[in-house]
Amino acid sequence: MSAATQTKEIARRRTFGIVSHPDAGKTTLTEKLLLFGGAIQEAGAVKSNKIKKGATSDFMDIERQRGISVATSVMAFDYSNCKVNILDTPGHKDFAEDTYRTLTAVDSVIVVIDVAKGVEEQTEKLVQVCRMRKTPVIVFINKMDRPGKEAFDLLDEVEQKLGLTVRPLSWPIGMGDRFQGVYSLYEQRLVLFSPGKKKQGRPEEVIAFTDLNNPELDELVGEEAAEELREEVNMIEEVYPVFDREKYLAGDLSPVFFGSAINNFGVKELLDCFVEIAPPPQARNAEERLVKPNEDNFSGFVFKIHANMDPKHRDRIAFLRICSGTFERNTNYLHVRQEKKLKFSNPTSFMAAKKEVVDEAFAGDVVGLYDSGNFKIGDTLTEGEELHFKGIPSFSPEQFRRVINGDPMKSKQLAKGLSQLMEEGVAQLFTRQADNAQIIGTVGALQFDVIQYRLEHEYGATAVYEPISLHKALWVTSEDEKALKAFEERRRSNIARDTEDRLVFLAESAWTLQSTKDAHPEVEFHTTSEL
Ligand code: G4P
Repeated sequence: MSAATQTKEIARRRTFGIVSHPDAGKTTLTEKLLLFGGAIQEAGAVKSNKIKKGATSDFMDIERQRGISVATSVMAFDYSNCKVNILDTPGHKDFAEDTYRTLTAVDSVIVVIDVAKGVEEQTEKLVQVCRMRKTPVIVFINKMDRPGKEAFDLLDEVEQKLGLTVRPLSWPIGMGDRFQGVYSLYEQRLVLFSPGKKKQGRPEEVIAFTDLNNPELDELVGEEAAEELREEVNMIEEVYPVFDREKYLAGDLSPVFFGSAINNFGVKELLDCFVEIAPPPQARNAEERLVKPNEDNFSGFVFKIHANMDPKHRDRIAFLRICSGTFERNTNYLHVRQEKKLKFSNPTSFMAAKKEVVDEAFAGDVVGLYDSGNFKIGDTLTEGEELHFKGIPSFSPEQFRRVINGDPMKSKQLAKGLSQLMEEGVAQLFTRQADNAQIIGTVGALQFDVIQYRLEHEYGATAVYEPISLHKALWVTSEDEKALKAFEERRRSNIARDTEDRLVFLAESAWTLQSTKDAHPEVEFHTTSEL
């Protein structure tokens, strides 16, 4: 591998995630993007990774979901000289923590919002993480073929609820039944929508249009709509900042596009702009130093682990984001935490929505590594350097159960099962100091069923749950060691340790949390484990 080839390969990578509330159109948009990239040939090829609404979630659903999500975890395709890697961010509420973690492995994000529903809860939570990490965000307002909120109101909502500064790069002409298309402010052209043609490729007509005062506009969209568009575009120029790529890359400005994914409308405009402005692989912070993508030596971290729920096939796939250099098959790499060398004979890539063995992959890519239990989330592989990548935090869980061993003969199995499931990042385990109670915390309630089922089927252990009334678990630190000790003593019954032995405060209610914070101003409370 020559240095020049490596540089070129890395520079053309665009690794991103699509974030949305379930049903906003993430799967549909992903599919249209793959169609443009030639990665799939027909619509319907990407299975929705969510558990179908209406159906009660049972184990079959969980298993099916897991099967699908291995296939759709990473979808790569070539487009316009770029290699685009889409990292799937599972949309179901109960898989939120996995989604959060995937955001640590992307360089940018596209947020999909349903024009009728506006900004929804899960989008808010996920974008909060993007903001914290300064991830560049593009917004796609979907379902313009349906009646929905007024565009300006929606932009206000995005600014307020998501805390993003926005700048429209396309603007809708009407919506719902009256939706006629969009004016691309980025490319100064009119893209007209003709819904009837949706089955035959791109349902649109593209007309270069640099001067909106040109009377031809009235002929094309009608006088009223033309006048409205002129006024609105004037308003945009007055109210919103000009688009500045540097600001977007710094996470300080979010371009907004409008379209309809199902009609494949506005998707190409989004993709064309995306490959032009979205960041190539970015440098990542390790505890030791900043690691740049184009370094000679390979490094990467595991951000997701997929276990096979079939007890006969216990192997797991660890998803590794390459941070620097070139990863090569059958080459010895250092597993930093275990201080041992590992090599991989069949690392997998996910080109063209198919899994295939790769000989090499570059910074920005994700490879799947078959694993018999060596990895846990956050593990680093390098060519020998001791690196620990930052930014793979656990998130403060909101649902809790106390776990008790249901079979005294199987306590070892239970301990092992719990420990492995926690390594996979299925949930978090806290040990309360006062009574050694083991408390599982998750972001969504379905995980409890998954854990119980997997403990039984994969480890032969019986976990019994007891309800426990907890509001939140927060990591605590203080610069004042004495104060922290005193806090630990005074709040003994609320203190626990996580699996990394970090100090955690268990709050029974929002009120306890607030009053504890008030009483201990010298202690800091954190909602993620990355302190
Ligand atoms: P998700 O992955 O974000 O959960 O959403 P998904 O793409 O599955 O889309 C959710 C629903 O919204 C789907 O309908 C999909 O067809 C529809 N949809 C997506 N984009 C548009 C759009 O631009 N306009 C309109 N009108 N609908 C759109 P469904 O009935 O739930 O599923 P299906 O039976 O169509 O698969």
